[in-house]
Amino acid sequence: MKIAILGFGTVGSGVYEIAKTLKNIEVKKVLEKDLSKINIATNNYDEIINDKEIELVVECMGGLHPAYEFIMKALQNKKSVVSANKAVIAKYLDEFLKTAKENNVEFRFEASVGGGIPCLAGIQKIHRIENIDKFYGIFNGTSNFILDNMYRFENEFVTSLKTAQKLGYAEADPSADIDGYDVTNKVIISFALAYDGFIKNEFPCFTMKNITKEDILYFKKQGFVAKYIGEATTKGNKYEASVMLNLFPINALEANVLSNYNIVTVQSHTMGEVKFYGQGAGKLPTANAIIQDILDIQEKISFNPISIEKKYTYSPNLFKHKYVIRTNEKLKGDFEKLDKDGNNLYHYTKEITQVDLLKLVEENYYLVVKLSEY
Ligand code: NAP
Ligand code: HSE
Repeated sequence: MKIAILGFGTVGSGVYEIAKTLKNIEVKKVLEKDLSKINIATNNYDEIINDKEIELVVECMGGLHPAYEFIMKALQNKKSVVSANKAVIAKYLDEFLKTAKENNVEFRFEASVGGGIPCLAGIQKIHRIENIDKFYGIFNGTSNFILDNMYRFENEFVTSLKTAQKLGYAEADPSADIDGYDVTNKVIISFALAYDGFIKNEFPCFTMKNITKEDILYFKKQGFVAKYIGEATTKGNKYEASVMLNLFPINALEANVLSNYNIVTVQSHTMGEVKFYGQGAGKLPTANAIIQDILDIQEKISFNPISIEKKYTYSPNLFKHKYVIRTNEKLKGDFEKLDKDGNNLYHYTKEITQVDLLKLVEENYYLVVKLSEY
Protein backbone atom coordinates (compact mmCIF):
# COMPACT_ATOMS: atom_id res chain seq x y z
CA MET A 1 0.00 0.00 0.00
CA LYS A 2 1.31 3.45 -0.91
CA ILE A 3 0.78 6.12 1.71
CA ALA A 4 1.54 9.79 2.40
CA ILE A 5 2.53 11.32 5.72
CA LEU A 6 1.41 14.85 6.60
CA GLY A 7 3.97 16.35 9.00
CA PHE A 8 7.50 14.97 9.42
CA GLY A 9 8.01 15.80 13.10
CA THR A 10 8.36 13.43 16.06
CA VAL A 11 5.48 11.12 15.09
CA GLY A 12 5.66 11.45 11.28
CA SER A 13 9.36 10.57 11.19
CA GLY A 14 8.64 7.59 13.47
CA VAL A 15 5.96 6.34 11.05
CA TYR A 16 8.45 6.64 8.19
CA GLU A 17 11.11 4.76 10.17
CA ILE A 18 8.83 1.80 11.00
CA ALA A 19 7.24 1.74 7.51
CA LYS A 20 10.73 1.37 5.99
CA THR A 21 11.09 -1.95 7.83
CA LEU A 22 7.85 -3.33 6.34
CA LYS A 23 7.44 -4.75 2.84
CA ASN A 24 3.74 -3.92 2.44
CA ILE A 25 3.81 -0.17 3.22
CA GLU A 26 5.56 2.37 1.01
CA VAL A 27 5.73 6.04 1.99
CA LYS A 28 5.42 7.79 -1.38
CA LYS A 29 5.19 11.42 -0.25
CA VAL A 30 5.57 13.55 2.85
CA LEU A 31 3.88 16.93 3.29
CA GLU A 32 6.24 19.34 5.05
CA LYS A 33 6.99 23.03 5.19
CA ASP A 34 10.73 22.37 5.33
CA LEU A 35 11.49 20.42 2.12
CA SER A 36 15.05 19.66 3.19
CA LYS A 37 13.77 17.26 5.89
CA ILE A 38 13.36 14.35 3.46
CA ASN A 39 13.79 13.79 -0.30
CA ILE A 40 10.13 12.81 -0.88
CA ALA A 41 8.80 16.01 0.73
CA THR A 42 6.33 18.35 -0.94
CA ASN A 43 4.62 21.48 0.34
CA ASN A 44 1.76 21.15 -2.15
CA TYR A 45 -1.08 19.01 -0.73
CA ASP A 46 -2.70 18.67 -4.17
CA GLU A 47 0.27 16.52 -5.24
CA ILE A 48 -0.83 14.01 -2.61
CA ILE A 49 -4.56 14.33 -3.16
CA ASN A 50 -4.25 13.95 -6.94
CA ASP A 51 -1.90 10.97 -6.70
CA LYS A 52 -4.14 7.98 -7.47
CA GLU A 53 -1.53 5.53 -6.17
CA ILE A 54 -1.71 6.96 -2.64
CA GLU A 55 -4.49 5.03 -0.90
CA LEU A 56 -4.01 6.29 2.64
CA VAL A 57 -2.95 9.51 4.35
CA VAL A 58 -1.37 9.65 7.82
CA GLU A 59 -2.05 12.99 9.50
CA CYS A 60 0.46 13.93 12.18
CA MET A 61 0.84 17.69 11.75
CA GLY A 62 -1.17 18.57 14.85
CA GLY A 63 -3.50 21.54 15.42
CA LEU A 64 -7.02 22.12 14.14
CA HIS A 65 -6.32 23.87 10.84
CA PRO A 66 -5.39 22.98 8.18
CA ALA A 67 -5.47 19.45 9.67
CA TYR A 68 -9.30 19.42 9.53
CA GLU A 69 -9.41 20.54 5.88
CA PHE A 70 -6.64 18.10 4.85
CA ILE A 71 -8.33 15.12 6.54
CA MET A 72 -11.70 15.97 4.96
CA LYS A 73 -10.13 16.42 1.53
CA ALA A 74 -8.37 13.05 1.75
CA LEU A 75 -11.59 11.27 2.79
CA GLN A 76 -13.63 13.02 0.09
CA ASN A 77 -11.01 11.85 -2.42
CA LYS A 78 -11.51 8.27 -1.26
CA LYS A 79 -8.27 7.95 0.67
CA SER A 80 -8.40 6.37 4.14
CA VAL A 81 -6.97 8.50 6.93
CA VAL A 82 -5.07 7.55 10.10
CA SER A 83 -4.50 10.38 12.55
CA ALA A 84 -2.74 10.90 15.88
CA ASN A 85 -4.14 14.40 16.27
CA LYS A 86 -6.34 14.36 19.40
CA ALA A 87 -7.30 18.01 19.12
CA VAL A 88 -8.84 17.75 15.65
CA ILE A 89 -10.44 14.34 16.33
CA ALA A 90 -12.10 15.45 19.60
CA LYS A 91 -13.65 18.37 17.72
CA TYR A 92 -14.62 16.81 14.38
CA LEU A 93 -14.89 13.04 14.92
CA ASP A 94 -18.55 13.03 13.82
CA GLU A 95 -17.74 14.69 10.49
CA PHE A 96 -14.72 12.47 9.86
CA LEU A 97 -16.66 9.24 10.48
CA LYS A 98 -19.59 10.39 8.36
CA THR A 99 -17.38 11.47 5.46
CA ALA A 100 -15.34 8.25 5.63
CA LYS A 101 -18.55 6.19 5.50
CA GLU A 102 -19.98 8.21 2.58
CA ASN A 103 -16.79 7.61 0.62
CA ASN A 104 -16.39 3.97 1.59
CA VAL A 105 -12.99 4.52 3.22
CA GLU A 106 -11.67 4.29 6.80
CA PHE A 107 -10.87 6.86 9.48
CA ARG A 108 -8.74 5.40 12.31
CA PHE A 109 -7.14 7.07 15.32
CA GLU A 110 -5.66 4.55 17.81
CA ALA A 111 -2.52 6.70 18.33
CA SER A 112 -4.60 9.65 19.52
CA VAL A 113 -5.18 8.08 22.95
CA GLY A 114 -2.47 6.38 24.99
CA GLY A 115 0.29 6.77 22.36
CA GLY A 116 1.52 3.24 21.63
CA ILE A 117 -0.96 1.44 23.91
CA PRO A 118 -3.83 -0.25 22.04
CA CYS A 119 -6.34 1.07 24.55
CA LEU A 120 -8.98 2.28 22.07
CA ALA A 121 -8.97 -1.16 20.45
CA GLY A 122 -9.29 -2.60 23.98
CA ILE A 123 -12.27 -0.38 24.77
CA GLN A 124 -13.94 -1.38 21.48
CA LYS A 125 -13.34 -5.05 22.16
CA ILE A 126 -14.82 -4.92 25.66
CA HIS A 127 -17.75 -2.85 24.44
CA ARG A 128 -18.70 -5.26 21.67
CA ILE A 129 -19.81 -7.67 24.40
CA GLU A 130 -21.18 -5.38 27.11
CA ASN A 131 -21.66 -1.85 28.40
CA ILE A 132 -18.69 -0.13 29.95
CA ASP A 133 -19.37 1.13 33.48
CA LYS A 134 -16.49 3.55 33.77
CA PHE A 135 -13.04 4.40 32.43
CA TYR A 136 -10.27 6.39 34.08
CA GLY A 137 -6.57 6.77 33.77
CA ILE A 138 -3.30 8.57 33.26
CA PHE A 139 -3.78 9.75 29.67
CA ASN A 140 -0.91 12.20 29.35
CA GLY A 141 2.77 11.26 29.22
CA THR A 142 4.13 14.77 29.72
CA SER A 143 2.17 15.51 32.90
CA ASN A 144 2.99 12.07 34.28
CA PHE A 145 6.67 12.59 33.50
CA ILE A 146 6.54 15.92 35.38
CA LEU A 147 4.73 14.51 38.43
CA ASP A 148 7.03 11.48 38.58
CA ASN A 149 10.13 13.66 38.25
CA MET A 150 8.91 15.91 41.06
CA TYR A 151 8.02 12.93 43.27
CA ARG A 152 11.05 10.69 42.80
CA PHE A 153 13.81 13.22 42.15
CA GLU A 154 12.28 16.19 43.98
CA ASN A 155 12.76 18.41 40.92
CA GLU A 156 10.82 21.64 40.40
CA PHE A 157 7.85 21.73 37.98
CA VAL A 158 9.56 23.88 35.34
CA THR A 159 12.75 21.76 35.20
CA SER A 160 10.68 18.59 34.78
CA LEU A 161 8.58 20.14 31.98
CA LYS A 162 11.72 21.19 30.08
CA THR A 163 13.05 17.61 30.18
CA ALA A 164 9.69 16.24 28.91
CA GLN A 165 9.83 18.74 26.03
CA LYS A 166 13.39 17.68 25.13
CA LEU A 167 12.28 14.04 25.04
CA GLY A 168 9.53 14.84 22.47
CA TYR A 169 6.58 13.98 24.74
CA ALA A 170 5.08 17.47 25.02
CA GLU A 171 2.69 19.11 22.57
CA ALA A 172 3.96 22.05 20.47
CA ASP A 173 2.20 24.24 23.05
CA PRO A 174 2.73 22.36 26.34
CA SER A 175 -0.20 24.14 28.00
CA ALA A 176 -2.30 21.44 26.28
CA ASP A 177 -0.48 18.88 28.44
CA ILE A 178 -0.38 20.71 31.76
CA ASP A 179 -3.70 22.57 31.63
CA GLY A 180 -5.63 19.44 30.74
CA TYR A 181 -6.88 20.13 27.20
CA ASP A 182 -4.98 17.11 25.90
CA VAL A 183 -6.54 14.81 28.51
CA THR A 184 -9.96 16.37 27.87
CA ASN A 185 -9.60 15.51 24.17
CA LYS A 186 -8.56 11.95 25.03
CA VAL A 187 -11.54 11.55 27.38
CA ILE A 188 -13.88 12.75 24.60
CA ILE A 189 -12.37 10.27 22.10
CA SER A 190 -12.40 7.34 24.57
CA PHE A 191 -15.99 8.22 25.55
CA ALA A 192 -17.05 8.00 21.89
CA LEU A 193 -15.84 4.40 21.69
CA ALA A 194 -16.97 3.38 25.18
CA TYR A 195 -20.45 4.91 25.10
CA ASP A 196 -21.27 5.50 21.39
CA GLY A 197 -21.77 9.24 21.95
CA PHE A 198 -19.88 12.39 21.07
CA ILE A 199 -19.62 14.71 24.10
CA LYS A 200 -18.28 18.26 24.19
CA ASN A 201 -15.59 19.71 26.48
CA GLU A 202 -18.17 20.93 29.00
CA PHE A 203 -16.99 18.93 32.06
CA PRO A 204 -14.56 20.24 34.72
CA CYS A 205 -10.90 20.38 33.80
CA PHE A 206 -8.48 21.57 36.50
CA THR A 207 -4.94 22.47 35.52
CA MET A 208 -2.10 20.44 37.10
CA LYS A 209 0.44 23.25 36.86
CA ASN A 210 -0.43 24.69 40.31
CA ILE A 211 1.13 21.71 42.06
CA THR A 212 4.42 22.56 43.80
CA LYS A 213 7.29 20.52 45.19
CA GLU A 214 5.93 21.37 48.67
CA ASP A 215 2.52 19.88 47.78
CA ILE A 216 4.14 16.71 46.41
CA LEU A 217 6.25 16.31 49.58
CA TYR A 218 3.24 16.99 51.83
CA PHE A 219 1.14 14.36 50.03
CA LYS A 220 4.10 11.95 50.15
CA LYS A 221 4.16 12.31 53.97
CA GLN A 222 0.44 11.41 53.99
CA GLY A 223 1.19 8.27 51.91
CA PHE A 224 -0.22 9.62 48.63
CA VAL A 225 1.06 10.07 45.10
CA ALA A 226 -0.60 12.70 42.85
CA LYS A 227 -1.46 11.65 39.30
CA TYR A 228 -3.26 13.60 36.56
CA ILE A 229 -6.43 11.66 35.77
CA GLY A 230 -9.11 11.80 33.11
CA GLU A 231 -12.30 9.82 33.74
CA ALA A 232 -15.89 9.37 32.64
CA THR A 233 -18.95 7.36 33.56
CA THR A 234 -22.61 7.37 32.59
CA LYS A 235 -25.99 6.81 34.24
CA GLY A 236 -28.76 6.40 31.67
CA ASN A 237 -28.33 9.24 29.21
CA LYS A 238 -26.39 11.41 31.69
CA TYR A 239 -22.64 11.44 32.13
CA GLU A 240 -20.03 12.72 34.54
CA ALA A 241 -16.43 13.34 33.55
CA SER A 242 -13.44 15.25 34.88
CA VAL A 243 -9.79 15.98 34.31
CA MET A 244 -7.86 16.67 37.51
CA LEU A 245 -5.12 15.60 39.86
CA ASN A 246 -6.05 12.56 41.96
CA LEU A 247 -4.31 11.22 45.06
CA PHE A 248 -3.54 7.49 45.03
CA PRO A 249 -2.27 5.45 47.97
CA ILE A 250 1.40 4.63 47.47
CA ASN A 251 0.72 0.95 46.70
CA ALA A 252 -1.94 1.59 44.01
CA LEU A 253 -0.95 0.62 40.46
CA GLU A 254 -1.51 4.19 39.24
CA ALA A 255 0.88 5.51 41.91
CA ASN A 256 3.62 3.36 40.39
CA VAL A 257 3.18 4.44 36.76
CA LEU A 258 6.49 6.19 36.12
CA SER A 259 8.04 8.50 33.51
CA ASN A 260 5.91 9.11 30.38
CA TYR A 261 3.92 5.90 30.85
CA ASN A 262 0.11 5.91 30.70
CA ILE A 263 -2.42 3.57 32.24
CA VAL A 264 -6.07 3.38 31.22
CA THR A 265 -8.55 1.33 33.26
CA VAL A 266 -11.87 0.13 31.90
CA GLN A 267 -14.56 -1.30 34.20
CA SER A 268 -17.32 -3.59 32.99
CA HIS A 269 -19.56 -6.29 34.42
CA THR A 270 -17.91 -9.48 33.16
CA MET A 271 -14.34 -8.20 33.05
CA GLY A 272 -14.19 -6.22 36.29
CA GLU A 273 -11.17 -3.96 35.83
CA VAL A 274 -8.89 -4.15 32.78
CA LYS A 275 -5.78 -1.97 32.74
CA PHE A 276 -3.96 -0.91 29.57
CA TYR A 277 -0.42 0.19 30.40
CA GLY A 278 2.49 1.35 28.28
CA GLN A 279 4.28 4.26 26.63
CA GLY A 280 1.72 7.01 26.19
CA ALA A 281 3.90 9.33 24.12
CA GLY A 282 7.07 9.43 22.06
CA LYS A 283 8.17 8.86 18.49
CA LEU A 284 8.23 5.10 17.99
CA PRO A 285 5.45 3.97 20.38
CA THR A 286 3.03 6.45 18.77
CA ALA A 287 4.19 5.50 15.27
CA ASN A 288 3.64 1.85 16.16
CA ALA A 289 -0.05 2.56 16.89
CA ILE A 290 -0.38 4.38 13.55
CA ILE A 291 1.22 1.51 11.65
CA GLN A 292 -1.14 -0.94 13.40
CA ASP A 293 -4.10 1.09 12.10
CA ILE A 294 -2.64 1.10 8.58
CA LEU A 295 -2.19 -2.68 8.67
CA ASP A 296 -5.75 -3.14 10.00
CA ILE A 297 -7.11 -1.04 7.13
CA GLN A 298 -4.99 -2.97 4.64
CA GLU A 299 -6.16 -6.31 6.05
CA LYS A 300 -9.75 -5.04 6.51
CA ILE A 301 -9.74 -5.77 10.24
CA SER A 302 -12.48 -4.04 12.21
CA PHE A 303 -13.85 -4.82 15.68
CA ASN A 304 -17.19 -3.16 15.09
CA PRO A 305 -18.27 -0.07 13.17
CA ILE A 306 -17.96 3.07 15.29
CA SER A 307 -21.30 4.72 16.00
CA ILE A 308 -21.53 7.95 17.99
CA GLU A 309 -25.24 8.58 17.60
CA LYS A 310 -26.28 8.34 21.30
CA LYS A 311 -27.01 11.62 23.08
CA TYR A 312 -25.68 12.30 26.60
CA THR A 313 -26.13 15.30 28.90
CA TYR A 314 -23.36 16.36 31.27
CA SER A 315 -24.60 16.21 34.86
CA PRO A 316 -22.42 17.60 37.69
CA ASN A 317 -24.77 16.13 40.32
CA LEU A 318 -24.54 12.43 39.50
CA PHE A 319 -21.98 11.30 42.09
CA LYS A 320 -20.20 12.54 45.23
CA HIS A 321 -16.43 12.48 45.81
CA LYS A 322 -13.89 13.71 48.36
CA TYR A 323 -11.37 16.41 47.44
CA VAL A 324 -8.38 18.24 48.95
CA ILE A 325 -8.14 21.98 48.31
CA ARG A 326 -4.90 23.79 49.11
CA THR A 327 -5.03 27.52 49.78
CA ASN A 328 -3.15 30.08 51.87
CA GLU A 329 -6.31 31.28 53.60
CA LYS A 330 -8.99 29.34 55.38
CA LEU A 331 -12.02 28.61 53.18
CA LYS A 332 -15.58 29.02 54.46
CA GLY A 333 -17.43 25.72 54.76
CA ASP A 334 -17.74 22.49 56.66
CA PHE A 335 -14.65 20.32 56.07
CA GLU A 336 -13.74 16.84 57.24
CA LYS A 337 -10.21 17.92 58.13
CA LEU A 338 -7.98 20.99 57.89
CA ASP A 339 -4.21 20.48 57.84
CA LYS A 340 -1.44 23.10 57.93
CA ASP A 341 1.96 22.51 56.35
CA GLY A 342 4.25 25.56 56.19
CA ASN A 343 2.13 28.35 54.69
CA ASN A 344 -0.22 25.90 53.03
CA LEU A 345 -3.67 24.97 54.29
CA TYR A 346 -5.07 21.65 53.06
CA HIS A 347 -8.88 21.44 53.28
CA TYR A 348 -10.22 17.86 53.13
CA THR A 349 -13.85 18.01 51.93
CA LYS A 350 -16.67 15.65 52.86
CA GLU A 351 -18.31 13.75 49.99
CA ILE A 352 -19.56 16.48 47.66
CA THR A 353 -20.84 16.80 44.07
CA GLN A 354 -18.95 18.55 41.28
CA VAL A 355 -21.42 21.45 41.68
CA ASP A 356 -20.43 21.88 45.35
CA LEU A 357 -16.75 21.64 44.46
CA LEU A 358 -17.00 24.30 41.78
CA LYS A 359 -18.75 26.63 44.25
CA LEU A 360 -15.96 26.11 46.81
CA VAL A 361 -13.07 26.78 44.47
CA GLU A 362 -14.75 29.62 42.57
CA GLU A 363 -12.97 32.36 44.49
CA ASN A 364 -10.02 31.14 46.52
CA TYR A 365 -8.54 28.61 44.13
CA TYR A 366 -4.95 27.42 44.40
CA LEU A 367 -4.83 23.65 43.99
CA VAL A 368 -7.60 21.08 43.89
CA VAL A 369 -7.08 17.32 43.92
CA LYS A 370 -9.49 14.44 44.18
CA LEU A 371 -9.07 11.66 46.72
CA SER A 372 -9.10 8.72 44.37
CA GLU A 373 -11.63 5.96 45.03
CA TYR A 374 -9.69 3.34 43.10
P1 NAP B 1 5.76 17.83 15.79
O1 NAP B 1 7.01 17.16 16.18
O2 NAP B 1 5.61 19.29 16.05
O3 NAP B 1 5.54 17.54 14.23
C1 NAP B 1 4.57 18.15 13.42
C2 NAP B 1 5.21 18.37 12.05
O4 NAP B 1 4.20 18.78 11.14
C3 NAP B 1 6.27 19.46 12.08
O5 NAP B 1 7.39 19.05 11.34
C4 NAP B 1 5.56 20.64 11.41
O6 NAP B 1 6.43 21.54 10.77
C5 NAP B 1 4.69 19.92 10.40
N1 NAP B 1 3.54 20.72 10.01
C6 NAP B 1 2.67 21.38 10.79
N2 NAP B 1 1.74 22.02 10.05
C7 NAP B 1 2.05 21.75 8.75
C8 NAP B 1 1.49 22.14 7.51
N3 NAP B 1 0.42 22.94 7.45
N4 NAP B 1 2.05 21.68 6.38
C9 NAP B 1 3.14 20.90 6.42
N5 NAP B 1 3.74 20.49 7.57
C10 NAP B 1 3.19 20.93 8.72
O7 NAP B 1 4.50 17.13 16.46
P2 NAP B 1 4.38 15.59 16.90
O8 NAP B 1 4.85 15.45 18.30
O9 NAP B 1 4.93 14.72 15.85
O10 NAP B 1 2.79 15.44 16.97
C11 NAP B 1 2.03 15.35 15.80
C12 NAP B 1 0.59 15.00 16.15
O11 NAP B 1 0.58 13.75 16.84
C13 NAP B 1 -0.06 16.00 17.10
O12 NAP B 1 -1.42 16.10 16.79
C14 NAP B 1 0.11 15.36 18.47
O13 NAP B 1 -0.92 15.74 19.36
C15 NAP B 1 -0.03 13.90 18.11
N6 NAP B 1 0.63 12.96 19.02
C16 NAP B 1 1.91 13.19 19.42
C17 NAP B 1 2.53 12.27 20.25
C18 NAP B 1 3.95 12.47 20.72
O14 NAP B 1 4.39 11.69 21.58
N7 NAP B 1 4.70 13.41 20.20
C19 NAP B 1 1.83 11.14 20.68
C20 NAP B 1 0.50 10.95 20.25
C21 NAP B 1 -0.08 11.87 19.41
P3 NAP B 1 6.92 22.87 11.58
O15 NAP B 1 7.63 22.37 12.78
O16 NAP B 1 7.79 23.54 10.59
O17 NAP B 1 5.67 23.62 11.93
N1 HSE C 1 1.72 15.31 24.54
C1 HSE C 1 1.08 14.05 24.65
C2 HSE C 1 1.45 13.40 25.96
C3 HSE C 1 1.48 13.16 23.52
O1 HSE C 1 2.39 13.88 26.61
O2 HSE C 1 0.78 12.47 26.38
C4 HSE C 1 0.75 11.85 23.48
O3 HSE C 1 -0.61 12.03 23.24
